[in-house]
Amino acid sequence: MVPVVAPDNGRFYTAIRMCRWEKQRRENKRQARLFSRAKVPFAYSRDTFDTYQLTDDNRTAVAAAKWSLQEGNRKGIFFYGSPGSGKTKLAAVIANEKAGRGEQVLFSSVPDFLADIRASFGKNTTAEMIQVARDVPCLILDDLGAERMTLWVGEQLFSLLNHRYNEGLQTIITSNYGPQNIAARLVCRDDDGAEDDSQAQRIMSRIYGMCELVNLSGRDWRLKGAEA
Ligand SMILES: Nc1ncnc2c1ncn2[C@@H]1O[C@H](COP(=O)(O)OP(=O)(O)OP(=O)(O)O)[C@@H](O)[C@H]1O
Ligand SMILES: [Mg+2]
Repeated sequence: MVPVVAPDNGRFYTAIRMCRWEKQRRENKRQARLFSRAKVPFAYSRDTFDTYQLTDDNRTAVAAAKWSLQEGNRKGIFFYGSPGSGKTKLAAVIANEKAGRGEQVLFSSVPDFLADIRASFGKNTTAEMIQVARDVPCLILDDLGAERMTLWVGEQLFSLLNHRYNEGLQTIITSNYGPQNIAARLVCRDDDGAEDDSQAQRIMSRIYGMCELVNLSGRDWRLKGAEA
């Protein structure tokens, strides 16, 4: 809480206003209450640019991550690349940097986000969760393409991303699938196995409209660890 001097009809009065840290603390509490899985995974919770080693393979992606953190930047990034190339770690660095500055950010892997929403059915929190994800100033969706695409999943993703696109809200996405093959991964199948690729095209169109596409290449860091 911070004391402020505020004008009111030509007079000034002092008031206590919630500082942005307090606002963020309350929002974090609300997020934690609503989402049990949606957070920066423990292994990445202390990551910063200092713990993210620069290589020729990730230099452009790191520069893009820094660009995404510039004040007032509402444009997002779609990081794509092979397993272990450092996508989740870089997305976590962005989330941790933003949280450290008192900015609101929600980090979730797409399968976890959908599992949280499913788990909320019957608890009356579904609408509040969807509203938080729709309106949070920065949403980080890790691992797009890892979920099983049912019609329901397609509708959830389209509605979320369409709203964020329309409102110009920053959305950072990671995926193992690049522009050549992500749309095929997002094709929805109903219970009878019938396919509908129109939703996938509409989802990707929003993503291309609001995100810079950035490739993260290089060898699997997990194997580097195993070799050490
Ligand atoms: N630039 C880096 N500096 C140090 N460690 C890194 C770097 N990039 C990745 N790592 C480490 O390598 C491992 C894999 O990274 P990460 O989970 O970010 O990969 P990913 O691209 O998200 O993989 P996947 O596609 O399988 O989800 C993690 O333990 C991470 O800490
Ligand atoms: Mg990952």
